Amino acid sequence: MMNDTFLRACRGEKTDFTPIWMMRQAGRYLPQYQKSLAKTDFLTACRTPELAAEITIQPVDEIGVDAAIFYSDITTTVVPMGIELHYEKGKGPSYPNPIRTTEDADRLIVPEDPADGLSFVYEAQKICARELENRVPLIGFAGAPFTVSAYMVEGKGSNSFVEFRRFAFSNPGGYATLMDKVARHTANYLKAQAAAGANALMLFDSHAGLVGPGDFATMNLPYVRQIIDSLKMTGVPIIYLPFGAHGSLDLIKDCGADVIALDYGFRLEEAVAELGQGVSVQGNIEPYSLFLPRDEIKRRVTATLEAGKGARGHVFNLGHGVPQHSPVENVKAMVDFVHEMSQVIAS
Ligand code: CP3
Repeated sequence: MMNDTFLRACRGEKTDFTPIWMMRQAGRYLPQYQKSLAKTDFLTACRTPELAAEITIQPVDEIGVDAAIFYSDITTTVVPMGIELHYEKGKGPSYPNPIRTTEDADRLIVPEDPADGLSFVYEAQKICARELENRVPLIGFAGAPFTVSAYMVEGKGSNSFVEFRRFAFSNPGGYATLMDKVARHTANYLKAQAAAGANALMLFDSHAGLVGPGDFATMNLPYVRQIIDSLKMTGVPIIYLPFGAHGSLDLIKDCGADVIALDYGFRLEEAVAELGQGVSVQGNIEPYSLFLPRDEIKRRVTATLEAGKGARGHVFNLGHGVPQHSPVENVKAMVDFVHEMSQVIAS
């Protein structure tokens, strides 16, 4: 029988222990991942179904997490819209011809068939679903339109996304065109992932904090809501990560997601109180606590479990991705502590 504890916590059903998975659990801290990538490069790995499936499953075997997240990236999804993507080792993903004008946004395509240029994703997910059967659920994902648009306009990752913010505020028409197209494409993409075998879907809004609460409400949230509304028919739980949108929980709680993923900047207990009993929460231990001594990891795990106790459901996670060079033994220990201490606290 499948370990469905993660799905149950997403829906707010009773569980025997608190489930855990980690953002970026498939990645460079794992020796198996480095081995898989030694003969190839990141984008080729993403586009090779057998390999993407193998990397997706590695942390389930090695770390013992309660869910697998599909190995891919938020920047790869929009290539079929007509934007070129590069990947340079050490520098990350980039778009050499970024969106800077209304005409650039007008030129973007919303492919009618979500398999156009992305069939490798669904093929890989079918393999994952088959190989994970009777083990743990598979999480499919995409970037939220605001975060993906930020990359498409900036052309690369950035701390400040100056070009994107200038575009968004100086060209509201071009911005609306871009956001609407990315949102429609993303909805189609996520629906197709559910059809291919994803048991849950997550929207990563890693740069939601680039604008304050007033602008988040008008420039970002409506598009997130539009996507989530259109995904309801899939029946799978939806997780939304509004990274850095610390002043907007009162609006976020009604976005339609089953789970709100909280970054390490939230006070978990206060966020749980503000979100109420209509949603479950995911998060949010400090990612670099993986570098602490084992007894301190255990203490922090217990504190995070206590802080999440009042939630409708709690999916344990880091407050951001697994840091590079995290000791694998500590990652495993954190998973074990969550399983152990959540049962101690509940009893
Ligand atoms: O394990 C997983 O979480 C599944 C796969 C996954 C990746 N990226 C793999 C990846 C997921 C869910 C993502 C999401 C993603 N990608 C986000 C949202 C989450 C977040 O971190 O806020 C963002 C902002 C990106 C964009 C991105 N991808 C950057 C900035 C970089 C370069 C920096 C880095 O960490 O290497 C990537 C590359 C990337 N995505 C790698 C992996 C495993 C590294 C590839 C390598 O091995 O070189």
